[in-house]
Amino acid sequence: MKVLIIGGTGHIGSYLVPRLVLHGYEVQVLARNPKPYYGSAGTEALWSQVEWILADRIREEENGSWGKRMAEVEADVVIDLICFTPEQNRIMVENLEGHVSHFIHCGTIWAYGPSTRVPYRENYPRRPITEYGINKAMIEANLLKKYDREGFPATVIHPGHICGRKWLPIDPQGTRNGVNVYRSLARGDVVYLPDNGLATLHHVHADDVAQVFELAILNRKAALGESFSVAAPYAVTLSYCCEFVASLFGRKPNLRFIPLQKMSDVLGEEAFAITRDHVIHSPCVSIEKAQRLLGYRPRYTTEDIYRECIEHLLERGELVV
Ligand SMILES: NC(=O)c1ccc[n+]([C@@H]2O[C@H](COP(=O)([O-])OP(=O)(O)OC[C@H]3O[C@@H](n4cnc5c(N)ncnc54)[C@H](OP(=O)(O)O)[C@@H]3O)[C@@H](O)[C@H]2O)c1
Repeated sequence: MKVLIIGGTGHIGSYLVPRLVLHGYEVQVLARNPKPYYGSAGTEALWSQVEWILADRIREEENGSWGKRMAEVEADVVIDLICFTPEQNRIMVENLEGHVSHFIHCGTIWAYGPSTRVPYRENYPRRPITEYGINKAMIEANLLKKYDREGFPATVIHPGHICGRKWLPIDPQGTRNGVNVYRSLARGDVVYLPDNGLATLHHVHADDVAQVFELAILNRKAALGESFSVAAPYAVTLSYCCEFVASLFGRKPNLRFIPLQKMSDVLGEEAFAITRDHVIHSPCVSIEKAQRLLGYRPRYTTEDIYRECIEHLLERGELVV
């Protein structure tokens, strides 16, 4: 079976491509450069079996040649990892219809919007608040409608905050700010958290995301016309993340709680915007549907994710305590 992965060399693709090659799929990867962002030792032989399609999607969408490329796709399954607007997705559907047996779109839990009922299930109402989430929710709705009305073979997979050994997770302050908070927690320095520290994060390891994409192919019938959340077994609070990371260094966290808006003084505007986005969403999703229909068995908890990344930072000398 031939699988085309559009954008297959990034966080997800770096795990998904070796998985699929190892399990006997013929894999085509479309990207601008023929190289995984996060290649890991031992996977070189698997990557060497990939059929590369080097193309710039954005440029081809602009000059009108992308649709023709999609119309000529010869794969059985197409996985679209880099589609962000309904218009981009429309071109995919229009040109793949009738000649692929499965189309899998990568969404995001930001399509759900800020938490209301938790854990959030896929059939709850969508209330996205960011342009990114609104667009992804529209793509999802369009694909599921297209399946219901015309049998277009779509599946949508919504990952939580993706991370991997070499891609730092959203940190215990709800942002990406290099190694700062890890160093502070390791040393027992003061760490500021927004409000009462009870905002939640819902991480997922990129290999678990890859697992669900593979399971969707394997369980095509169960996956068609469905959306699935893919995340770690449980969401965690910022306070707990601090507690866990500090415990890796034999410490208790030295926490101070301040109003969310004040966090911009501590983090700077750029990192604060990311924290604010995570605090407002405070995601906590159910993975029961992926477990029940696809057999998803997450390999990584958030604790495993932090442990793996901190180990990597220490090994590389990027975190010095
Ligand atoms: N990051 C998160 O935490 C998160 C959470 C939930 C959902 N998601 C979803 O995950 C998906 C992104 O997956 P990812 O994190 O694995 O992506 P990524 O790490 O950003 O990788 C992007 C991939 O797309 C390729 N690419 C980028 N621009 C391209 C272009 N113009 N033409 C052709 N190829 C291009 C890149 O290769 P080249 O650079 O060589 O072209 C690479 O293969 C998105 O749909 C996003 O909404 C992400």
